[in-house]
Amino acid sequence: MTDSSPPRKIRVVLCRGQYCNMSRRADALLKRLEPLIDSVNGDQYPKPVKLEIANCLSMCGAGPNLVIYPANVVCNHVEPDMLDEIVEEHVRKPLEGPPD
Ligand code: FES
Repeated sequence: MTDSSPPRKIRVVLCRGQYCNMSRRADALLKRLEPLIDSVNGDQYPKPVKLEIANCLSMCGAGPNLVIYPANVVCNHVEPDMLDEIVEEHVRKPLEGPPD
């Protein structure tokens, strides 16, 4: 292998715990988040972005919560209409790397 840089990987972890999913609000986030992540991954294999579900991220009072690794971006009080910007800024752009 000639490219020594490791493949970029991003994990998006959405909490669906008791508090974050009160009134199924985390489910609403998941419904919106899945196609956004699918769009970023496209037909790449292996997929650079993995969407994971957590049972609690230990910050229930600030929920619904979402964390993006490895950058450790913590998003609190997430609403569905915030997800486009979150994915653009913290998932799509980091995968594309710094602008030339
Ligand atoms: S239930 Fe989501 S952080 Fe605890």
